[in-house]
Amino acid sequence: MKLISVAGARPNFMKIAPLADAIAAHNATTSPGIEHILVHTGQHYDQEMSDLFFKELEIPEPDINLGVGGGSHAIQTAEIMKRIEPVLIEHQPDYLLVVGDVNSTIACALVAVKLGIKVIHVEAGLRSYDRGMPEEINRVLTDAISDLLFTTEREATGNLLREGVSPDKIHFVGNVMIDTLLTHRIKAEQSDVLERMGVTGEYGVVTLHRPSNVDDPAQLAMLMATLHEVSSALQLIFPVHPRTRNSLSAHGIPVAEGICFLEPLGYLDFLKLQSSARLVITDSGGIQEETTVLGVPCLTLRESTERPVTVTHGTNRLVPLRHDAIVAAAREILGGAVVTGRIPELWDGGAAQRIISILLNLA
Ligand code: UD1
Repeated sequence: MKLISVAGARPNFMKIAPLADAIAAHNATTSPGIEHILVHTGQHYDQEMSDLFFKELEIPEPDINLGVGGGSHAIQTAEIMKRIEPVLIEHQPDYLLVVGDVNSTIACALVAVKLGIKVIHVEAGLRSYDRGMPEEINRVLTDAISDLLFTTEREATGNLLREGVSPDKIHFVGNVMIDTLLTHRIKAEQSDVLERMGVTGEYGVVTLHRPSNVDDPAQLAMLMATLHEVSSALQLIFPVHPRTRNSLSAHGIPVAEGICFLEPLGYLDFLKLQSSARLVITDSGGIQEETTVLGVPCLTLRESTERPVTVTHGTNRLVPLRHDAIVAAAREILGGAVVTGRIPELWDGGAAQRIISILLNLA
């Protein structure tokens, strides 16, 4: 079996890592094994947004880097499509495997399906039902053209069935991102990130990068003022995504005093930071899942989530995008409100293994 897998943006890397590991483990015992070619689209390219993750998660060096870089959605998606096509034509894989919901995911899937190459989507079926999110468009379209769809939660399987996807294409396998978290949790405990930053005592972690929160200057200014108020009760640490940093500086929005702003962190430092936090405030998708497994209260600054199991089973709560609502939600937690959760079904570290076993059975 010949398989090309694609990683493009930061949240892809922790999903590809356990899959690459599971393939390597299979190949160590079976010959001929799976021929695996790893493509990096180059959607994310900074040292802290990309290289550090490959190093820390011990992901093999990509066989091919398309080097696309940033750009508008159309330019970025089109560039990835133009550059992946000759790679797929040259290598003629049996499968193209894509993860998540970023522009690299849909761009590569679309080219593959038109070349008659079977598409595998890992983390299929998630739906926020908010078509204003670019990721929602990427999810719906990728799922519609995939031949094999691996889901992380039962709700996602239900979404796909409602959209008419044939049940034999769908496999509920658990969460590859949680495979990575469980593998690296002990190592992350040894990170000295808190000492390096001089943090003592309780703290909260903030991440914000959704276009709906950070591209609009009024919204971003409101969020900064809100975080400033929360920081009077709890010190906040905020590793800033390049999109957010660009928007703060383009609109001249002052960064709130009392908040510790940092460059984006590597995987191990950030996992350590999350796991010891009193509270996480975010608009990320993956962090909702990671805090659920870590048992850390998470306030998600969004109207909807494509990962409902983190709310129904986990420690996540959606908070309306209003100053008073966010401050009140943070105060509730700091005031001792009990936040408990349980680990969702099959988020047990075995998802990548299950995916590779299913693929081998189909071959
Ligand atoms: C992308 C994903 C989003 C994911 C996020 C995680 C899409 C549609 N969105 O959003 O789902 O949650 O990644 O980070 O694919 N930039 C740098 N250095 C980098 C990477 C980006 O400076 O290493 C800059 C880009 O040049 C651009 C901005 O950050 O100006 C946004 O990058 P882009 O890849 O377009 O989207 P993200 O906002 O990162």
